[in-house]
Amino acid sequence: MNATVSGINNDLRDSEIRYRRLFEAAQDGILILDAKTGMIEDVNPYLIKMLGYSREEFVKKKLWEVGAFRDIESSKDAFEALQVNEYIRYEDLPLKTKDGRFVDVEFVSNVYLVGYEKVIQCNIRDITERKQAENALQASETKFRRLVEHLPTVIYMNPADDASSMNYVSPQIQALIGYTSEEWLTDQTLWMKALHPEDIEHVLAQTSHTDHQSEPFDLEYRMTHRDGQLVWVHDQAILVNDREGKHHYWQGIMLDITARKQAEEKIQRQLEHLIALSAVDRIIASNFDLKLSLSEILVYVLKELRVDAADILIFDSNMQMLEYGAERGFRTKSVRKAQVRFGESYAGRVALERQLVQIPNIEDEPDNLLLKKFLAGEDFVCYYGVPLIAKGQVKGVLEVFHRSKLNPDEEWIDFLHTLAGQVAIAAENALLFESLQRSNLELTSAYDATIEGWSRALDLRDKETEGHSLRVTEMTGELSRVFGLSDMELVQVRWGSLLHDIGKMGVPDAILLKPGALTEDEWTVMKKHPFFAYEMLAPIRYLRQALDIPYCHHEKWDGTGYPRGLSGDQIPLSARIFAIVDVWDALTSDRPYRPAWTDNDALNYILMSSGTHFDPQVVDSFMQVTGRNLMTL
Ligand code: C2E
Ligand code: SIN
Ligand code: SIN
Ligand code: FE
Ligand code: FE
Repeated sequence: MNATVSGINNDLRDSEIRYRRLFEAAQDGILILDAKTGMIEDVNPYLIKMLGYSREEFVKKKLWEVGAFRDIESSKDAFEALQVNEYIRYEDLPLKTKDGRFVDVEFVSNVYLVGYEKVIQCNIRDITERKQAENALQASETKFRRLVEHLPTVIYMNPADDASSMNYVSPQIQALIGYTSEEWLTDQTLWMKALHPEDIEHVLAQTSHTDHQSEPFDLEYRMTHRDGQLVWVHDQAILVNDREGKHHYWQGIMLDITARKQAEEKIQRQLEHLIALSAVDRIIASNFDLKLSLSEILVYVLKELRVDAADILIFDSNMQMLEYGAERGFRTKSVRKAQVRFGESYAGRVALERQLVQIPNIEDEPDNLLLKKFLAGEDFVCYYGVPLIAKGQVKGVLEVFHRSKLNPDEEWIDFLHTLAGQVAIAAENALLFESLQRSNLELTSAYDATIEGWSRALDLRDKETEGHSLRVTEMTGELSRVFGLSDMELVQVRWGSLLHDIGKMGVPDAILLKPGALTEDEWTVMKKHPFFAYEMLAPIRYLRQALDIPYCHHEKWDGTGYPRGLSGDQIPLSARIFAIVDVWDALTSDRPYRPAWTDNDALNYILMSSGTHFDPQVVDSFMQVTGRNLMTL
């Protein structure tokens, strides 16, 4: 035996011992097969333990003859494949143990050359635990996914470098925006498309802020649902970093806050409604002129209802007609000529049926008179008409028009009715005045006090003797009663008397308070005062009938008076009566241009002027009344 050979043998033995130890101690099952026959040459203790067969049941058997492998279709094929491929791997094979259980294994085979012999080494790893862990992970994934997908929010993840493309979005997104998560993940432009145009800039700025400052993203913004509806979302996200501290991905939630936002907007709107209503109240309380009030109220109608145009038609119960009262927002003036018969057309129907008439699309009613006559050139799309009802009576109709589609909700309709209620009150108040329903004494006396105060202020300016206006008013009233004027007419006479020289407001102090005679030019101005009165009072509807006295108190019976040179019966009776009283009071008072006359001189002057300046019949009556009064002094 030479040293070298025995050295080699020693080395071989050492190495064989080493490998045998590994083979015996390995924590994987190992089989050694003869590559030519497929006969099992060796099996390690771990595999014996794993499968429960004895060493004898393996050794000198073909692989597929061993019970554990017999059921595996592939084991023979695998062996054949091995001869060609020299390497084969099954990730997950179920092997049957001696006692009938299944063990999941990973099966890897390699062909080696040992000397001149080809052997196959099969490594068989029990993967039961790994599979259990995987299953547990799977179960946990499923659990969390279920959790995530049932939260009342949308959960999403985006790559850090691209906020608009998504890695994950939970299926609730469909309820929020109408697109499925699949659509959302496939079309990366959806988010930008769904963002409300007015919010894009804001959202992108905040996104970039989060990207750069790593501060959480927290924003409320608007999106458009697939069906076109507006959706408010509360979007909160954070940037999650990877192990190197680099931005890894966005992780966020989106909450549907549409209902809350709508509630907030509703509160805001209601506040505005309240403010508008109180403004409308103020208009009603401070304006006696119906058309002016209505026109001012319509400003609020347009603003609060967000409509393009509105009008108010007033019901004339004598004529059974709705007549133009006020308008706002119309392009043409044709609505001002509106005269709608009760029961006819939209407005007439509103008044007759005493209920809202809605025409959401005027186009659908092409034969309509409204379209042709009043609305040509207005381009209105929809119409809403509500009755104005006060004290159970229809006072008119409020009509609103819009040049695009309106989708009025309940709140809008309610507010339309509320405004209509207020307009009805305004109309009621003003109409009361116009017809001077004496039943409403309280209201009348409120106006009366105002006018009296007004006339006192006028006297002050005129430097007239204190109480001139009130005096002539009382005297005129007394004289008027002799002529059988009605109570209603007497109120007008009273107000006309109180305000008879209101036109002197338009005469400069230098002329009005001049101590001496007036020049021709000064007279020209002075003689305008009745016309100034007309201009001032004519727009005030409820004083229209009281205008006779301020306008005509300087007309003369013989036609030589001013401003119009009326004569005889052309001059309203109340003005003929008043003229005598006014001259009487002027003559018996101090004037800047002369001292007071005596009563006698004044009476004589009036008697002398009968048939020239004054109506003789009124002079007679004046003499009786004044004579009686003077007697009692
Ligand atoms: P008034 O002072 O209230 O007088 C009302 C009317 O009473 C006068 O209308 C006139 O018809 C009559 N009247 C008043 N004073 C006299 C008078 O001394 N003699 C005569 N014959 N009649 C008198 P009338 O004349 O149209 O005047 C309208 C207003 O013009 C007067 O209101 C007064 O404000 C102003 N006025 C008239 N004359 C003068 C004047 O000589 N000087 C100045 N500064 N103002 C005058
Ligand atoms: C999203 O809300 O869909 C993305 C938001 C973001 O990245 O900020
Ligand atoms: C209007 O001009 O508004 C009256 C016509 C109608 O309402 O039918
Ligand atoms: Fe006068
Ligand atoms: Fe006077």
